[in-house]
Amino acid sequence: MPDTKSFHMSPEEFRRQGHAVVDWIADYMSRVESFPVLSRVQPGEVRSQLPASAPQKGEAFEQVIADVERVILPGITHWQSPNFFAYFPANASGPAILGDLLSSGLGVQGMLWSTSPACTELETHVLDWLVPALGLPEKFLSSSTGGGVIQDTASSASLCALLAARERATHFVSNRRGCDGKLVAYCSTQTHSSVEKAMKISGMGSDNLRLIDVDQSFAMRPELLARQIAADKKSSLIPCFVCATIGTTSSCAIDPVREIARICRDRDLWLHVDSAMSGTAALCPEFRFVHDGVEFADSYTFNPHKWMFTNFDCNCFYVADRKHLIQTLSVLPEYLRNQATESGAVIDYRDWHIQLGRRFRSLKLWFVIRHYGIEGLQHHIREHVRLAQQFVAWVRADSRFELAAPAKLNLVCFRLRSGDQANQKLMDRLNASGDLYLTHTKLDGKLILRFCIGQTNTEARHVERAWQRIQQETALLENS
Ligand SMILES: Cc1ncc(COP(=O)(O)O)c(C=O)c1O
Repeated sequence: MPDTKSFHMSPEEFRRQGHAVVDWIADYMSRVESFPVLSRVQPGEVRSQLPASAPQKGEAFEQVIADVERVILPGITHWQSPNFFAYFPANASGPAILGDLLSSGLGVQGMLWSTSPACTELETHVLDWLVPALGLPEKFLSSSTGGGVIQDTASSASLCALLAARERATHFVSNRRGCDGKLVAYCSTQTHSSVEKAMKISGMGSDNLRLIDVDQSFAMRPELLARQIAADKKSSLIPCFVCATIGTTSSCAIDPVREIARICRDRDLWLHVDSAMSGTAALCPEFRFVHDGVEFADSYTFNPHKWMFTNFDCNCFYVADRKHLIQTLSVLPEYLRNQATESGAVIDYRDWHIQLGRRFRSLKLWFVIRHYGIEGLQHHIREHVRLAQQFVAWVRADSRFELAAPAKLNLVCFRLRSGDQANQKLMDRLNASGDLYLTHTKLDGKLILRFCIGQTNTEARHVERAWQRIQQETALLENS
């Protein structure tokens, strides 16, 4: 007799539990505003409620969901709360969640075109859609010399850009023999830490990353970049890569990409543009100034998982000339050989990033774009920027506060004039209240509060309430 015993969830039970989980998520969306935004658990509190060892016998799914409510939910910081103004957003939306669910349901591993043609072709197509939608140069289209790929994060995208730059500069020799400590890369003092990490991973070494000083708006000073490159060349080093940022993490500064590009072109350096959050703004023609000069970049990256209503993780990475990237990362063992690859007629995205396996991430991006349409995306981006500019006006009108950086889009950097301690206390009290969540940075050595408006469901009333709470806590601080 064959053993027919099964522990699997049947399709019928999956349907029942699946409906319950979707109901749970919909309820969560409705009540997310009622939770303290920043989780209040202490270190170890979540684990202390979990059994020491894995269950020997399977448990009822209802019990598992009950534990999500009881154990997990208190340990959640609610990134999807409309009162979340911290870091940069990681905003989600209904169509993105459903796209992700479908991706899990199909369970596709799209490392090669042949392992699921739709996984590759939808990705290529959606990334091509975004090129004109964001005002990006045509060379990033798959029909041109370049193309786009979905990566997990901007960190991975920047690492790939750096690796391709390293190989272009050494004629693909460092791929075989390793680095000799001569390759140098450049970014500003405000560039995201992922570039330093990429230097470590790439074997180029973090000592060979030059941090170029910034101007009063915290944007890279191109004349200092040119000077540093010249000094490095004089020392027989090999400058090969510059990362310019559109929307730095601390203050949303925009590096002068056009001028930086001119320097890179004249000296044959790879220009990578990191536009992790702010790239999304370019969907609106009036904010497309952020992409000025990107037409000269060798690579470009932005995160729909930050501000484009596409839940984490989803990064778009474009290259102007795909052959450098592919030649850098391609390895073809026998077990991956197939006719479609040999024909040269297809894209195999395994050659476009670090890992081999890949999820069907373009489904959620496709769902988002089709649900909102460009018009819907523009509407919400505009509204976030409008609310941020309203917040700027309130800060300006209150003599206790000052703006700490230009606020061109949806991030407002501000501070109490009374000093670092007061700002730290204000932030701690606001975050402890659970009413909102904002984070800090340091600019010019001073502690600055960052207020970023980009959560999917943030409306005027949330921003108004946040400003009221900031004013209330400031008054209490002054009187304490
Ligand atoms: C400018 C910039 N680049 C890169 C990153 C890293 O993003 P990811 O988490 O996608 O690696 C961030 C994160 O906030 C960022 O602000």
